Amino acid sequence: MKVLVVGGGGREHALCWAIAASPLLDTLWCAPGNAGIAEVAECVPIDSLDITGLVGFATERGVDLVVVGGEPPLVAGLADACAAAGVKCFGPSQAAARLEGSKAFTREVADAAGAPGARWQQFNDPAAAKAYIGDEGAPIVVKADGLAAGKGVVVAATVAEAEAAIADIMESRIHGDSGATVLIEECLVGQEVSFFALCDGTTALPLGAAQDHKRVGDGDTGPNTGGMGAYSPPPVFTDALRDEVMARIVNPVLAEMAKRGTPFRGVLFVGLMITADGPRLIEFNVRFGDPECQALMVRLRSDLLPALLAACDGELAKFGLRWEPVHSLVVVMAARGYPGAYGKGTEIRGLERAAQIPGVQVFHAGTARRDDGALVATGGRVLGVTATGGSLAEAQAAAYAAVDAIDWPEGFCRRDIGWRAL
Ligand code: AMP
Ligand code: GLY
Repeated sequence: MKVLVVGGGGREHALCWAIAASPLLDTLWCAPGNAGIAEVAECVPIDSLDITGLVGFATERGVDLVVVGGEPPLVAGLADACAAAGVKCFGPSQAAARLEGSKAFTREVADAAGAPGARWQQFNDPAAAKAYIGDEGAPIVVKADGLAAGKGVVVAATVAEAEAAIADIMESRIHGDSGATVLIEECLVGQEVSFFALCDGTTALPLGAAQDHKRVGDGDTGPNTGGMGAYSPPPVFTDALRDEVMARIVNPVLAEMAKRGTPFRGVLFVGLMITADGPRLIEFNVRFGDPECQALMVRLRSDLLPALLAACDGELAKFGLRWEPVHSLVVVMAARGYPGAYGKGTEIRGLERAAQIPGVQVFHAGTARRDDGALVATGGRVLGVTATGGSLAEAQAAAYAAVDAIDWPEGFCRRDIGWRAL
């Protein structure tokens, strides 16, 4: 088979790494890819939002399957454009990708499906939003409706903070038109879990769960990031909780989407809060998490490629997945300054040494090769140092041993990934 993966981050490196191991694979391309992906796939310089370019490449080269990593191309309609050109694509249609593209749509679908989540209200008028906040009190959560690169949510500890968020999002439009509508939600308390289900439109297959670390600093301090580390499986997420989430959230939402004529195919990322009253839906994403994907891929024993195909072909009901009985942990190494301004082009050494540690896989997120062959950092999140072990503590020790083998003075990482479970 010929496969094209779309994206160039750590999640896409992990997907390429898993797909490259498939006996079904003939050729693997990645657009645009990165220096790590180039070790397992041929990188093609097409931007992941260049839908015409991607579909043109896929038809020209006879690609059998397009696998989309991130949500922006899906929300922009890449899966629909592939379908129109007769190219198989793993990822939801534009209509189904609204589960990530609009938070109000998600909550409305979840309510129609009876899926448990936070109490919420939607506002187009800042004055009405502020009045509601005054009535509800704090803590309270303010969200821009549309995509905001993961920065559109404010968990406000005080009414003043929530009102300031309304002013920023709705009046100053710091996230552009994504802030034309806001959602105001009850603040849920508990542990967050990222749960993933492979969906073929009617059937969902659990893919496992992970816990992410969103804050930049040790002890969960400092600003939010795309994710500074993850581990899988999370001890808090028992099999009973998984079954409850499948029965009360995933299956009813899948049925509701199908009923609306917009069946969901792809990976459903279920953002959960495990509260004292049980699991509650925080949000959906329509793709794998980054770095959660890295933590899941190193635990997957089954061939990923036929699973992705079964999701595209509506054949998941006949499918099962096997997992290695191991724990995994990812430490993200980022450029100093991230998630604020950071430098680019600094040299990274020692990856070969790190990769020799048993159980370690270093996934690249923002890297490139300089003309002289040196590896350089090109992004905020740069490496996902991933390890497996017989216990979470072993996986953590191996991941940090690998981090310590990497020589990159301009990078940093959190030193406490996994703390909640250890
Ligand atoms: P989202 O972009 O919807 O994932 O929200 C970003 C983060 O805000 C989540 O990962 C949670 O930590 C937090 N959050 C979102 N909604 C709520 C809520 N209703 N209650 C508490 N925390 C929330
Ligand atoms: N790590 C969270 C996300 O991918 O959205």
